[in-house]
Amino acid sequence: MDRIYMDHSATTPVTPKALEAMLPWFREEFGNPSAIYSLGQSGKNVLEDCRKRVAKCLGALQTEIFFTSGGTESDNWVIRGACRAKGARGRHIVTSAIEHNAVLRTLAQMEEDGFEVTYLKPDPMGRITPGQLEAAIRPDTILVSIMLASNVVGTILDIPSLAKVAAKHRVWFHTDAVQAAGHIPIRAHKLGVDFLSLSAHKFGGPKGVGALYCRLPNRLPPLLTGGGQEKELRSGTENIPGIVGMTAALEEAVSDLEEESARLSAMRDRIIRELCAVPGVVLTGDPENRLPGFASFAVDGVGHSVHLVNALNEKGICVSSGSACSAASREASHVLLALGFDSRLSAGSLRITLGRDNTEEQADRLLSVLPDIIARQRLEAKKEPAVVFSRPSHAPDPDD
Ligand SMILES: Cc1ncc(COP(=O)(O)O)c(C=O)c1O
Repeated sequence: MDRIYMDHSATTPVTPKALEAMLPWFREEFGNPSAIYSLGQSGKNVLEDCRKRVAKCLGALQTEIFFTSGGTESDNWVIRGACRAKGARGRHIVTSAIEHNAVLRTLAQMEEDGFEVTYLKPDPMGRITPGQLEAAIRPDTILVSIMLASNVVGTILDIPSLAKVAAKHRVWFHTDAVQAAGHIPIRAHKLGVDFLSLSAHKFGGPKGVGALYCRLPNRLPPLLTGGGQEKELRSGTENIPGIVGMTAALEEAVSDLEEESARLSAMRDRIIRELCAVPGVVLTGDPENRLPGFASFAVDGVGHSVHLVNALNEKGICVSSGSACSAASREASHVLLALGFDSRLSAGSLRITLGRDNTEEQADRLLSVLPDIIARQRLEAKKEPAVVFSRPSHAPDPDD
């Protein structure tokens, strides 16, 4: 049975081009970029070349790009850095209730340290308005962190308008662009943000590498201190193969973004159309402003969508459930609850995210089996409402 992978928001396979580009930097070009002999200097040179190329893909300057270990680190760096840099001036932060846990759990720690956080509630489609942000900003607000696109419902938020509000009040604005980078055009300067996080494994690069765009690099204190790499702002020997792979993958994604986005949007819309024709299946997120390959649903009457994920897995199809679940209690996704779905619908949240490797034939196959799986699970749920999936409460959120 051929596997059909439709969970590209969780992670993507490394593209052949990215892998090819990385290989020499594992083998013969393994030098430490801080070493002064030529083996080291070739690493240093490729690092600066990658910085220039990543900056070009993001409409930024080379001096504004810093390499990190991924989205989580980039988000942590901005939040913890802003609190350190500006904590004496103010202790209030604004975010949205639908952020990834890399933002929410970091902010929860900041709250323990005495910072106050306002969580803006999005509308049912996942949108936040400039008026909401305007009303939330106070004289002691030091940071706004709102994501560019949702990892649970795929909505693309109006970051240029939100960043304008923050700029008017001279408040730093960070956007988590982990789900957006490589999937929709990003011009950092036009977005008007001060900081932007991205992660390579969401667009065909390797895991464990990412970047932070910093409009104000010298104002943000380092998260990691040590050997002084990345202009003293992010210590640690640079992950040269990872950075090379990320750069190749980002360039590839950006080079055919328009065609690939049109192809994936058409496939996505077909999946949305056909699944929403099944009674009790509703689209989650914004029907218009959504990520190209992102189809997300709430399925009523199935108990928990993990049953659908398991049944699809048996057919060789990988998708994800948009909510966490434990043996003892049903836990609904914090995002769907924030969007106003009740806990019953939130428990039936299903996310199908398409990528470069998906074909119309694969969408045919998904659509040929999923309605039956839903119908069968509805019968099961009536008989046996018990939840069979369990995960410890500290386990990573499957919404990634
Ligand atoms: C919106 C968002 N932010 C942050 C992250 C974390 O990124 P990483 O896996 O690179 O740490 C993810 C992915 O899991 C994400 O979807």
